[in-house]
Amino acid sequence: MNEESLRKAFIEDRIAKTEGTRLSLPFFEVWDEIGSTNTRAAELAKAGAQSGVLVTAERQTAGRGRRGRVWESPAGSNIAMSLVLRPQVSLAALPQLTIIAAVAVKRAFEALGAAPGIKWPNDVYLSGRKCCGILVESVLEKGRLLYSVAGIGINVKKSAKSPEVAALSTSLEEEGILTEREPVIVRIHNELTSLCETWERTGNLSFILDEYTKSMLWIGENSRIIDASGAFTEGVIRGMNESGELLFETAEGLRSVYAGEVSLRPATKV
Ligand code: BTN
Repeated sequence: MNEESLRKAFIEDRIAKTEGTRLSLPFFEVWDEIGSTNTRAAELAKAGAQSGVLVTAERQTAGRGRRGRVWESPAGSNIAMSLVLRPQVSLAALPQLTIIAAVAVKRAFEALGAAPGIKWPNDVYLSGRKCCGILVESVLEKGRLLYSVAGIGINVKKSAKSPEVAALSTSLEEEGILTEREPVIVRIHNELTSLCETWERTGNLSFILDEYTKSMLWIGENSRIIDASGAFTEGVIRGMNESGELLFETAEGLRSVYAGEVSLRPATKV
């Protein structure tokens, strides 16, 4: 058995032992090294992989973050996982998938005894620093969803980082959480696929709105909502609506904005 199949067998064993698991993974791949688990999951999806198929890697050489950024995945320090999903929702609702993925990670962190916060729309924080990033990529053809890939990167072990990055990011280890990675992967997979099933019935985020809002960072705080050109609006964060739009209050009144359009920063940190 090579290293890859050993890890795969280990995940299988963990899946069998994870309490409450309702999961029988249809198919999954465990890579020691790969460019990006999102790219591989997309290849599998294109070849017809069903919803729930999972790809994980010890190390990514071309990990992708949001807004074209690079996502570092040093060997043995991270979780890098991507799920193929084929949610049966309207195209208008599809951007909500990224928020659902954040809730799945939040629940997995809570199961480890942590108190995560979510920076809208989908960064999961511990003690005010980012511990998990999510990149959802969907492919459409002729106005119809072909597939989505939900890519999740979690800092598990403390790793060498520059002082600037250290101030902004944390890991489970730095937060005092020592865990094997496999049960966390299984938990997230389980939560995400189950949340997607409910979402397909509701067609919106009403079923997790309270839960999400309770964990949402910077509610009631003055923040900058920054668009792609760098222009910003200042407003007080009030929450999120069931379409996944950020709600914020400006001098002109309550406004809402989609995740794809802007990024968010507390006004005190700019
Ligand atoms: C972010 O910019 O915050 C999103 C980071 C997403 C990283 C994960 S790691 C697994 C998957 N594969 C990738 O190439 N990216 C995502």
